[in-house]
Amino acid sequence: MKILKKITGITSHSKKVAPGNLFIAKKAEFIPEAVANGAIAIATDMHDPFLKGIVQIVDPDIDKLEMELVEKYYEHSDKKLFLVGITGTSGKTTTSYLIRHILGKDSCGLIGTIEYIVGKNHLPSTHTTPDLATNHKLFYDMVQHGCKEVVMEVSSHALEQKRVRGIEFDVAVFTNLTQDHLDYHQTMEKYGEAKAKLFSQCKTAVINNDDSYWRGFKGVTYGIDHPADIQATNIRLSANGIEFTVQGIPFKSSLIGRFNIYNCLAAIGVCLFKSMTLCQIAARIRSFKTVEGRLERVDNDKGIHVFVDYSHKEDALKNVLQTLNEIKENRIITVFGCGGDRDQGKRPKMGRVAAELSDLTIVTSDNPRNEDPNQIIKDILSGIKDQKSVLVQPDRLEAITKAIHLAKKGDIVLIAGKGHETYQIFATHTIDFDDREIARLTLMAK
Ligand SMILES: Nc1ncnc2c1ncn2[C@@H]1O[C@H](COP(=O)(O)OP(=O)(O)OP(=O)(O)O)[C@@H](O)[C@H]1O
Ligand SMILES: [Mg+2]
Repeated sequence: MKILKKITGITSHSKKVAPGNLFIAKKAEFIPEAVANGAIAIATDMHDPFLKGIVQIVDPDIDKLEMELVEKYYEHSDKKLFLVGITGTSGKTTTSYLIRHILGKDSCGLIGTIEYIVGKNHLPSTHTTPDLATNHKLFYDMVQHGCKEVVMEVSSHALEQKRVRGIEFDVAVFTNLTQDHLDYHQTMEKYGEAKAKLFSQCKTAVINNDDSYWRGFKGVTYGIDHPADIQATNIRLSANGIEFTVQGIPFKSSLIGRFNIYNCLAAIGVCLFKSMTLCQIAARIRSFKTVEGRLERVDNDKGIHVFVDYSHKEDALKNVLQTLNEIKENRIITVFGCGGDRDQGKRPKMGRVAAELSDLTIVTSDNPRNEDPNQIIKDILSGIKDQKSVLVQPDRLEAITKAIHLAKKGDIVLIAGKGHETYQIFATHTIDFDDREIARLTLMAK
């Protein structure tokens, strides 16, 4: 282990190797690139006699070797943190931000889809759940920054690919399990198995008891419909937010939609383990504003409910619009487009969903990339039978402006597709573009 004192870091990505690094070679074919990038040591499952001047650490079980090396190199930092893992088809990002907010922000690190947060530093995310070495590096950095807890999204891919192998979670949350990623996991059982792996890696489980797959698993339960340890009653949903009661304590949040009650309940379940009272948790949830790009509310004094959401697939757009339909007071005006150089098949489907579930749809551009924005719009329109309540405006800025100008008090404006993105990509250039900023400025001028 002497060599570990000299190396400058560990990575399992050959492209990310920096001079002096130890490279974890899951596949031998990446070794030349790692060496060219300056790796001085290699962890491998088979000794390579032709590799001169490079230290080779050999173990046939490369995953186990990786785990042992990164744990040791990063000084078992995972053991110094209160670790929360969240898995499930949806709600992971939202629940993780809720938990971080309730626990007190800077002391709580975060690893997820949008970003990795280490103390006060926000780093762009490359994967919802990064590889094992990156996870341990983040834990190490979090400890250096004085973090006491970390909340991380644990995707099913990550569980399958052993990206959290050996990490023991103090609490694991199981949100829900619906039919997605089935191309990757093939069957629902296999998908469930991947998620259930997390059970064996956690001290306590917080489980959505309304989800038929998880019901019956051992742990602290939450839910609305089925009896649960943490059960929401007196539910009220509106365009202003959600209200509910848990064990007599009233909860209120500006997050919208029934699914966000579930996310709050999951967060409550976790924070009770940190010896907080329901009253303290309720006060923290009240001050939680929004998750970037997830039905993110654009505050204004015009009485218009404006939301920016990153839904860029048929299912996601449908979910969001169904949620909005449950709470709408007046009309729903939807602005959306589809990205270029990506799945063309979804365009007519998204068009149909948007038109069916909105009172007015403004079809515009997303990131056209190398495609002609007008052709993408044509593809979207081909899925809409009745185009009476559809407008077309290829310029996204103009489209958002139009939607807000047409909106009256009590209307909902949904700006879908780009969420927290702050740019728009065209064939020859990329421009600064932030749906929220455009909406905010337009509302101020209205
Ligand atoms: N508890 C929930 N149950 C069902 N749908 C949800 C729930 N929470 C959020 N959603 C819906 O799923 C969308 C994505 O939510 P979120 O980003 O929190 O999920 P995620 O699990 O992190 O997803 P991803 O796999 O993309 O990282 C939301 O915009 C909302 O429409
Ligand atoms: Mg996520």
